[in-house]
Amino acid sequence: MNVNGKHYRALWMEGSTVCMIDQNLLPFEFSIYRCNDIDETCRAIKTMITRGAGSIGAAGAYGMLQAIYNNKSDENLYNELFVSKQKIDSTRPTAVNLFYATDRVLEASKISKEFAVSEAFAIADECVEQSRKIGIFGAELIKDGYGIETHCNAGWLALVDYGSALSPLYTAHDSGKNIFVYVDETRPRSQGARLTAWELEQHGILHAIIPDNAGAHYMSKGKINIIITGADRIAANGDTANKIGTLEKAISAKYYGIPFYIAAPTSTIDLKTNYGSLISIEERGEEEVLYYSGKQKNGKIIEIQVANPGSKALNPAFDVTPAELITGIITEKGIINPDKESIKNLFL
Ligand code: MRU
Repeated sequence: MNVNGKHYRALWMEGSTVCMIDQNLLPFEFSIYRCNDIDETCRAIKTMITRGAGSIGAAGAYGMLQAIYNNKSDENLYNELFVSKQKIDSTRPTAVNLFYATDRVLEASKISKEFAVSEAFAIADECVEQSRKIGIFGAELIKDGYGIETHCNAGWLALVDYGSALSPLYTAHDSGKNIFVYVDETRPRSQGARLTAWELEQHGILHAIIPDNAGAHYMSKGKINIIITGADRIAANGDTANKIGTLEKAISAKYYGIPFYIAAPTSTIDLKTNYGSLISIEERGEEEVLYYSGKQKNGKIIEIQVANPGSKALNPAFDVTPAELITGIITEKGIINPDKESIKNLFL
């Protein structure tokens, strides 16, 4: 993705340093955050300096790479990487791409250090290629003049490049289709209002940020032709965990007969999880609900209290949409039905 005419990925390696676009500062500041060791990389994943399933998968792989670079004796490599994997996996529990990435590097280390290194780099490169293909398949669903609703940020910031839910939008726009995107603000962290809106603006796509509770209103007015969101984990039966609020959009879409698609690379599918209620849902701190940060007119970024001071808050970061509410899953291998058989066939 280009920012001010320069191509960037959401994150990359420079020597043994993991460099990432600081997503906590966007859209107010475009700044590169550098993690010099695995502990700093873990902190960056946890505090969401980098975020989104594909990008945290790549960050996990790069964290493993930092552990490999730090390893002095080949004999101990597997054991050291085993500990590094536990450390990385404990940062965020829901997006399966993280575990997919650390598993893959750990397994590769059984063969050789060199293979583990090449696997760590391959994970980010594959994520980019898969996202590009999702764009090509997904764009077929988008007709000229479509209104499209999306939730959270499943763009290039979330998947190293291109994106999952947003990749079809970029491809459709680039091929000359006129589209208008209804961007759910996505409280409490506002990934839609801050990140998706910023990405779409960079790409010159017409859009408007809508309050999280406005989706059903626009659906009822016939403004939304299709809804596409990303995924953090797709269970073997098609149930899908994605950013909190996705479930409500899927229920509304069913009521109004609007197609509801999930876009995700196959690395987001977790065949070991049979159905959605087995997916572990991250609970984040209540301060994300009770306080908001934003930019003042004088340019200063500040945090303000936005709720009753005496009240507690609950902050589940994801919800699970049952497969029966999902029209289809857009993957890098094509668009499939959200059922056990079709999902299994992707891996044959
Ligand atoms: O908590 P986040 O911002 O890392 O969660 C990301 C999401 O849930 C996105 O909506 C997305 O669909 C999955 S990432 C491609």
